[in-house]
Amino acid sequence: MLLLHRAMVLRLQQACRLKAVHLRLCIQACSTNESFQPQRPSLTSGDNSSTRGWRVMGTLLGLGAVLAYQDHRCRAAQESTHIYTKEEVSSHTSPETGIWVTLGSEVFDVTEFVDLHPGGPSKLMLAAGGPLEPFWALYAVHNQSHVRELLAQYKIGELNPEDKVAPTVETSDPYADDPVRHPALKVNSQRPFNAEPPPELLTENYITPNPIFFTRNHLPVPNVDPDSYRLHVVGAPGGQSLSLSLDDLHKFPKYEITVTLQCAGNRRSEMTQVKEVKGLEWRTGAISTARWGGARLCDVLAQAGHQLCETEAHVCFEGLDSDPTGTAYGASIPLARAMDPEAEVLLAYEMNGQPLPRDHGFPVRVVVPGVVGARHVKWLGRVSVQPEESYSHWQRCDYKGFSPSVDWDTVDFDSAPSIQELPVQSAITEPQDGETVESGEVTIKGYAWSGGGRAVIRVDVSLDGGLTWQVAELDGEEQRPRKAWAWRLWQLQVPVPAGQKELNIVCKAVDDGYNVQPDTVAPIWNLRGVLSNAWHRVHVHVAP
Ligand code: MTE
Repeated sequence: MLLLHRAMVLRLQQACRLKAVHLRLCIQACSTNESFQPQRPSLTSGDNSSTRGWRVMGTLLGLGAVLAYQDHRCRAAQESTHIYTKEEVSSHTSPETGIWVTLGSEVFDVTEFVDLHPGGPSKLMLAAGGPLEPFWALYAVHNQSHVRELLAQYKIGELNPEDKVAPTVETSDPYADDPVRHPALKVNSQRPFNAEPPPELLTENYITPNPIFFTRNHLPVPNVDPDSYRLHVVGAPGGQSLSLSLDDLHKFPKYEITVTLQCAGNRRSEMTQVKEVKGLEWRTGAISTARWGGARLCDVLAQAGHQLCETEAHVCFEGLDSDPTGTAYGASIPLARAMDPEAEVLLAYEMNGQPLPRDHGFPVRVVVPGVVGARHVKWLGRVSVQPEESYSHWQRCDYKGFSPSVDWDTVDFDSAPSIQELPVQSAITEPQDGETVESGEVTIKGYAWSGGGRAVIRVDVSLDGGLTWQVAELDGEEQRPRKAWAWRLWQLQVPVPAGQKELNIVCKAVDDGYNVQPDTVAPIWNLRGVLSNAWHRVHVHVAP
C-alpha cells in the first residue's frame, strides 16, 4: 500500500484538491493502479474492482483514516519536488494528456480546474502547455493572493532551471495605453480597469459626470482613430451591408435620452458576505446615469434592409476590444427590441454633450435602455442579425442567473436565459455603513431604478431594520410611461428617535409593476453574484 507509484501520487494530489467531494476523493485514493481504476464512481451497485477496493480499504482503515492518509500523501507529494522540462509541460495540452501550465519556475496540473475557470475554459486553454504570465499580464485580475493560493493547490513540481520562461516572452503591458482615470474612482481591478464612484459622489448629481461614471472593462481599451473608424453593419438578404464613418452616423436623425446603466454585478460584495462568489467586488456604485446622444439603431438597421420578422432573431454587437486570440467582446439583444422605435436603442456617440470618453466606448457604443450594462457594447465595430443569440462568451457563459443550489460543479450555462431587463433596485448612499450620525435629525439619500422602462413609484425607508417604514421623497426627472430609463434619486429627512444609540437603516423600492426587492440576499445568492438587489441595509451609530 505504501509503495505508491507516481500515477497514484498524482491522482492523490488531484483528489486532494477536491476535498469537498469526499466520495470521489476516496475512490481516487483507492485507485492505486490502472487495473484498479474505477469506471465511474459507484458505491451502491456493481462489483467492479474499485468498489471492492473501496470496501476493503474502508473496512480496514475507516473513512477518516483514508482521508488522513490521503492528506498526508498530498502533502508528501507536494513536498517531494518533481522537475519537468519545458517539452514535458508543452505536451500536456488536453484533458487526455492532462493540462499543465507554468508560472515562474512552478508547474501546475490544472486539468480539474479548466471547466471551473470563471473566465471560461477556452481562456485558460490559451495557456495550456506553457506559461501563464502573458495571459495574466492581460487579465491582471489574477494577480491576487487568493488566485495564487488556488493555483498552488494544483502544483505538481518545478520547471527545469534551464527551461525557465525566457525573458523574450512577450509580456509587455497591453494596458499601457489605457486612459488616465479620475482619482476619486474606487478601483476594483486595474487591468482590465473596473471602478465605481464612491457612494457620496454617486448621488451628488442626477446626471453622473463623465469622469466618475462607473467603468466596466473586460479587456484593454482600444485606441480608435475617429477618422478611419468604420461601423460595419451586415445587410439583410436583399438589403445592403453598410460601412459607416462617424460622419455617416451623424447624418441619421439624432436622438438624446437619459439612461441609467447598471452592471449585473452591482452590489455583488453583499452576496460574497453570504457565500463566496466569482467576480469583482462591486459595492453600490456599478450604476450611473448619462444623457446619451446618437443615431437610433432601428434607423441604421432599416437602412441595411432589416425589418422585424416573425421568426426569432437577434442583433449581435462586436466591440473593437479583443483578447490575445483576437476574440472581441460581444453581446446581443432580440431583434424585436432593436427594431422597436419605442425601445429607443441608440448607437451613441455622445455622453453628456461630449464625445464618448475612451473608457465608455469612443467613438460609438450601443445604449440599450432598461437593459443590463453587458449589452451596451462599447467601441462598436460590427452589427449583424442572426437567428440565435451572440456566440460570445459574455452572452452565453456569463451574465446569467441561477438557483442558490447551483455550484461550479453543476452549473449549466445553456440552461438559463441571458440577463436582459434588470429587476428593481435601490441603495442607500448616505449615510454609509459604520458612520456616526448626529442625534436630532438624519438625512438618508440613495438611488432607485428598475429595468425594462418600469418607473420607480415609491421608495420605503426604515430606521429599525424593517419593522416600521417611511416613504422617501423622489427627486430627478419625471418618468415617461414605459420609458422610465433613468434612476430616481431619493431622500428622507427624519428625526432620530430619542435615546437611540444606533440605527439599522434599510431601503426598498417598488416599480410600476409593483415589483419589490427581496428582503435578504441568501435566497437570491448565485455563483456569479449577479442580480444582487436585496433590501439595502446600513448600520450607523448615533452621536451621544
Ligand atoms: N463593451 C465592450 N466592447 N467591452 C466591455 O468590456 N463591458 C460591458 C459593457 N460593454 C464591455 C462592453 C459591461 S459588462 C458593462 S456593465 C458596460 O459596458 C459598462 O459600461 P461603462 O464602462 O461605460 O460603465
